[in-house]
Amino acid sequence: MQIHDLEKIFEEKIEREIKIESKDWMPDAYRKTNVRQISQHAHSEIVGMLPEGNWISRAPSLKRKVILIAKVQDEAGHGLYLYSAAETLGTSREQMIEDLLSGKAKYSSIFNYPTLTWADMGAVGWLVDGAAILNQVMLCRTSYGPYARAMVRICKEESFHQRQGFESLLVLSKGTPEQKAMCQDAINRWWWPSLMMFGPKDAESTNSDQSMKWKIKRKTNDELRQQFVNMAVEQVKLLGMTLPDPDLKFNEVTSQYDFGEIHWDEFWAVVKGNGPCNKQRLEARNKAHEEGKWVREAALAYAKKQQARISVKVA
Ligand SMILES: [Fe+2]
Ligand SMILES: [Fe+2]
Repeated sequence: MQIHDLEKIFEEKIEREIKIESKDWMPDAYRKTNVRQISQHAHSEIVGMLPEGNWISRAPSLKRKVILIAKVQDEAGHGLYLYSAAETLGTSREQMIEDLLSGKAKYSSIFNYPTLTWADMGAVGWLVDGAAILNQVMLCRTSYGPYARAMVRICKEESFHQRQGFESLLVLSKGTPEQKAMCQDAINRWWWPSLMMFGPKDAESTNSDQSMKWKIKRKTNDELRQQFVNMAVEQVKLLGMTLPDPDLKFNEVTSQYDFGEIHWDEFWAVVKGNGPCNKQRLEARNKAHEEGKWVREAALAYAKKQQARISVKVA
């Protein structure tokens, strides 16, 4: 078949909402974009375990500890589904992990911020998982089949993450003056970085157009960010707290909330590796990888033994 015909079949599938599967022909750039996006997403899930993992031993009650452990484990699972989905595109897991550990691959910048108090566990669940969900709900309909299917399960777990975060803040918001202040402080610190999670403005987003055409993305960065603001403005009222933005105002014409300017200098600084915890996060991942080496080796040795046993039986 001519490349032109293959392209036509591919375009038609996209047009007719038929998922692209790993064995299907696809343009190189489509494959590359998906590998980049899915692996970045996987890395974000794995690095995202670090700021919360910090608080497992300091959770204020057994119940909170159980919830937090479950959440952090869910994130590990998300990472694993996503690495598997990326592997279907012909890239190896070793390569992806190596790129993460060397600092070559990106992950969501939000995880380069520190978690300073227990209230941060609530704010991360509510705002960070909340922002992630909007992106991920859209990705349940992404055009690459394995990615879309992984997202369906991930989304169910993410909505639990968000609710537990909000509920945890709700408890603090009804607590002592110190607890209330801690809750507000966490919201203040996580609000702007959460808005940055949707990425640069549409006008400056280099990959957006093509990703929209290929239905990898279905909504633009600005659309998703606006949706998030509209949602958070209503929810923060239930907490009796405020969002740290004096420019936040309902716009009668658009029926949306207008909001202040994001500090893009800070955004780019963190993306480029100069956020508050970039170095720390990569060091922690490298250390864990090094310390887990014997486990990987033992698992491989065991798998080989099992394989040898099966081949003896077959013979
Ligand atoms: Fe997740
Ligand atoms: Fe999550």
